[in-house]
Amino acid sequence: MRTKTGLTLLAILFSLALFATETEKNPVQPFGPMPDEVKAIVDKSCIGCHNTDSRNEDAKKELDFKKLDALSKVKMISTYKEISETLEKNEMPPKKFLEKYPDKALTDAEKKVLMTWAKKETKTLVKAK
Ligand code: HEC
Repeated sequence: MRTKTGLTLLAILFSLALFATETEKNPVQPFGPMPDEVKAIVDKSCIGCHNTDSRNEDAKKELDFKKLDALSKVKMISTYKEISETLEKNEMPPKKFLEKYPDKALTDAEKKVLMTWAKKETKTLVKAK
């Protein structure tokens, strides 16, 4: 009895360790990592408010770029949609914020890169069943 429990425990520990190393090698990025070009723009203009440690609770609640990959597929689709929609309407970054930090504004080219990316992700997700 004792040996059996010990063995089961060992087996559980072993699979946990295996799982941990696998996860480390393959972080959860089902739809590929964010392209560098996109990441640079998000880092410049969005991440300050939309991240896990943000003190801007409203922004964090709406969108956390660091947790995008952890969302369910349905939530992910709506998030990517919201991203392209807010950009299309020039709602983000917020105007008040840009008055204070004009250097964080998106250039037309940057806006296009972000929108193209968000739309592409939406399409890929909708297609993947
Ligand atoms: C100064 C802080 C700040 C920055 C910078 C910022 N946001 Fe936001 N964002 C907010 C806040 C606050 C909200 C929630 C309230 C609202 O919708 O206005 C929000 C909401 C959103 C939403 C959800 C909108 C909706 O319809 O519910 C999206 C998508 C978004 N932001 C994308 C972005 C993107 C993309 C960038 C960078 C280009 C960005 N944000 C930069 C503060 C910020």
